[in-house]
Amino acid sequence: MTPSEDLKRASDAPALHPTIFVIFGITGDLAARKLLPALLALFSKKLLPPRFAIVGFSRRYFSREEFRELIRSRLNIKPGQFKEEDIKHFLDHISYEQGNFDSPPAYARLSERLANIDNGWGQCSNKLFHLSVPPNLYEGILTNLASSRLTEPCDDMTGWTRVLIEKPFGNDIITARSLDKLLGRLFKEQQIFRIDHYLAKEALQNIIAFRFANPMFEPMWNKSYIDKVHIKLYERGGTEGRSAYYDPIGALRDVGQNHMLQMLALIAMEEPKSFAAKDIRKARVAVMEALRKFSKRELADAVIRGQYAGYLSEQGVPAQSRTETYFRIRAFIGLSRWKNVPFYLESGKALYESKTEIDIYFKPKEHSPEAQNILTFRIQPDEGIKIKFFVKTPANTFATEAKTLKFKYSDTPSFGIIQNDYERLLHDAFIGDQTLFTSTEEIMASWEFVTPILQGWKDLPLRQYQKGAREIE
Ligand code: BG6
Repeated sequence: MTPSEDLKRASDAPALHPTIFVIFGITGDLAARKLLPALLALFSKKLLPPRFAIVGFSRRYFSREEFRELIRSRLNIKPGQFKEEDIKHFLDHISYEQGNFDSPPAYARLSERLANIDNGWGQCSNKLFHLSVPPNLYEGILTNLASSRLTEPCDDMTGWTRVLIEKPFGNDIITARSLDKLLGRLFKEQQIFRIDHYLAKEALQNIIAFRFANPMFEPMWNKSYIDKVHIKLYERGGTEGRSAYYDPIGALRDVGQNHMLQMLALIAMEEPKSFAAKDIRKARVAVMEALRKFSKRELADAVIRGQYAGYLSEQGVPAQSRTETYFRIRAFIGLSRWKNVPFYLESGKALYESKTEIDIYFKPKEHSPEAQNILTFRIQPDEGIKIKFFVKTPANTFATEAKTLKFKYSDTPSFGIIQNDYERLLHDAFIGDQTLFTSTEEIMASWEFVTPILQGWKDLPLRQYQKGAREIE
């Protein structure tokens, strides 16, 4: 989809029907950092339905005023980012229902609250349920949602219902399958929106556009010309107060099984039949299913995992924790296009800088191995694309030196403001476009690849690295 087609699609979107957005765990970190700011941004751009409500659901008790204040203080708004009037009106749309996630009476109260909103509007609204809670609470919430019939559309079939699920979807292939089975029992596929917010990053979507809109690269996009691919998701920060979420899962489940495998899929996939959701998802899943699984014996050579010094003394981290905060994996894809081309997946917390990028290394000439062309997709920050190439040094010589061709989003004024990933995702969930959400097949294929690593690497050394490290060997 080209950017102009994309914009056209947005402006073609039907006028939005009244909608209620229910957030389970509204007082948590994700709601504060991602969901509410994105909803506020959509609201201020008038991209939400004219009749719109947010209902938060969480365990703690708050009075109406306390809740409003809490949300206001957590929105993390930069000075001048939004008009005061928009913020005030946005807050007017939010209400709160206190309850335990496993208590059926709480769901009955929630149901009553939603019915009251509908009655006030004189219309049956659409309902979106977002699970902004630790994954171990999914099952209870989904079951209660279904048994309280909150996810059923109204009698007159005017209001649809959808659920939005965050990653990690399960803990390994077994738990992912059982969550999937549960979802399949309770909802239809078109109601389920599984979030991987990396798919909604503009520079990531541009990988597809760049690859398939520029035929000059296609003949070289294979084992004959590509030497290796290096996908990096580096973060300077540590777990930043999220150890209760992070320690039980670790880096590979946090960003590897999802964000990084999605990047790999976009680099390696065949051209989809069309840019419709089902064809793009099909092309992505074909790559994930072809990832070569590691045997236990191969792991020691293909995988490195590490933990930064100081992690164990962070609040909430068990003293003996062997959770990885860093990993590097050399993966191969069993497709003839990619035979013997290593794909390195590398990610860590507390590294020397925060950046996400993908380097495609082209094979050098045999006689000058140091002259290697590299194409880099910079996903964030400083979104863009660059190519390293070689030119002759001016003088009576045929020596060459490296130069760079660069495209930066920020250099193109109309590209300068990139839509936030969560804004994009939530908007797509409202209009029912599943392209940027992961399919069940992708999730299963990614766990099939990741689960043997998780099982096998427990016996491998956990390397300790200093905060700010550049290289972990
Ligand atoms: C989240 C992980 O999914 O992605 C975080 O849970 C990580 O640990 C984050 O920091 C990175 O996302 P972004 O959009 O900030 O690059």
